[in-house]
Amino acid sequence: MVKVAVVEGDGIGREVVPVARDILAAVRPDIEFFDVEVGYGRWERTGSACGEETIADLRSADAILFGAVTTPPDPGYRSVLLQIRHALDLYANVRPIRGEGVDVVIVRENTEGLYSGIEWTEPDRACTVRVVSRRGSERIARYACPLAKSRRHLTVGNKANVLKSDCLFVEVCTAEAARAGVSCRTSYIDALCLDLLMHPDRYDVIVTTNIFGDILSDAAAYLVGGLGMLPSANIGERHALFEPVHGSAPDIAGKNVANPVAAIQSAAMLLEHLGDPASAAVVEEAVDRVLRAGIRTPDLGGVAGTREFGAAVLREVGRGK
Ligand code: NAI
Ligand code: MG
Repeated sequence: MVKVAVVEGDGIGREVVPVARDILAAVRPDIEFFDVEVGYGRWERTGSACGEETIADLRSADAILFGAVTTPPDPGYRSVLLQIRHALDLYANVRPIRGEGVDVVIVRENTEGLYSGIEWTEPDRACTVRVVSRRGSERIARYACPLAKSRRHLTVGNKANVLKSDCLFVEVCTAEAARAGVSCRTSYIDALCLDLLMHPDRYDVIVTTNIFGDILSDAAAYLVGGLGMLPSANIGERHALFEPVHGSAPDIAGKNVANPVAAIQSAAMLLEHLGDPASAAVVEEAVDRVLRAGIRTPDLGGVAGTREFGAAVLREVGRGK
């Protein structure tokens, strides 16, 4: 029996996660799902968006399927996802971007950088500390280098011309790439954002620090049809969480129009992580066939609803098994 924790969250998380979960259940009837509640509603009720017992529940799972959680820009509120990433030490955020003429993987350091959680507010200023440690850089470099070696090459996205912290990041990543025999270059993150959009074929694996990876991946979604298309994995030594790159999208929530592809492909990454690449391929190919048949949600110019798209993928999964 495999145990998968399901965190729908709120907004479109409640719409796309059930679709992904049904597809997982169809390909792997041995998965036992259990729901975990986090987020604003829990915060209002209990004063904590994500309690100790929530973390304990998540730790007990073989893998976590996560939707999205609305985070109000309130200094008193700490992002649930950041809490989970820190508590489960999910240090590698892997964001594949695949489409016509595009095959890039962004590997984002996921526990430190500008999201280290070391911050405070004073009456007339507020400070956030950007931490880049040798250990943190080494472990993300050791994740990215073998991946780049199995593919083509590595780009280290950075701003070392301005940030001392990135001098260390670049030093560690380039040294690790040399040790691993990986072809590697460095690129300033601002120029990289534009060049990736103009010449995606120049890129393969991109390793970068936390906020740069966050921004770069949302921008890169442009290459493949938008945020509804990008899945991700958050990987640690002991735990793993799979989620769409997008957020709770309050502007379209509750209308059955959200694109569930990102969530479904995140479920495929979860299957891969469970050591079941065959089922992952069944899911990925089913999604491809449905898209090729012209069944699409409105963000891709189609008329299919979230649930109708999911039902079409389920039918294809049935054929592909
Ligand atoms: P967002 O990713 O939720 O939405 C950005 C834009 O993309 C919106 O116009 C939305 O309609 C569209 N979009 C996103 N996913 C889509 C999908 N599957 N299908 C069709 N269109 C889609 O980012 P935004 O608006 O900046 O944030 C909304 C809330 O989500 C905020 O409270 C933010 O903190 C939270 N958030 C949560 C994340 C998480 O839980 N992992 C990640 C990013 C944001
Ligand atoms: Mg983001």
